[in-house]
Amino acid sequence: MKRIASIPALALAMTLALAATALADDGQAVYAAKCQSCHGADGSKSLMSKPVKGLKAEALVAAMKGYKAKTYGGSKKATMENLAAQMSDEDIKAVAAYVGTL
Ligand code: HEC
Repeated sequence: MKRIASIPALALAMTLALAATALADDGQAVYAAKCQSCHGADGSKSLMSKPVKGLKAEALVAAMKGYKAKTYGGSKKATMENLAAQMSDEDIKAVAAYVGTL
């Protein structure tokens, strides 16, 4: 009986893992289109921006929401505020999942 009960749990775990991968894939497309030009392909570029490489997904979501609400940022925050204002929460979540893998 124990074995039967564990099958739905395993299926759920696999679904969640697949969902996380799909989210990061979506995020990669968003990143390539909207972020890469300033932050660089691997997120480490800092000339025109601040590096995002190494930021955890939660930290990136917090920063983007902060830019959107105009409660976060440094001297060059206007750029990010305009960008974040055009992004849906789903886009932010997806791009954060991707940046978390960089
Ligand atoms: C036009 C150039 C440009 C583009 C495009 C751009 N950024 Fe930025 N980004 C910046 C600049 C400049 C800063 C520093 C802003 C400040 O002073 O707060 C920054 C900062 C950030 C930070 C804060 C990092 C930290 O440690 O505080 C995050 C997170 C970020 N960007 C994510 C993104 C994401 C995600 C995208 C794509 C949706 C993106 N950026 C697109 C220029 C850009």
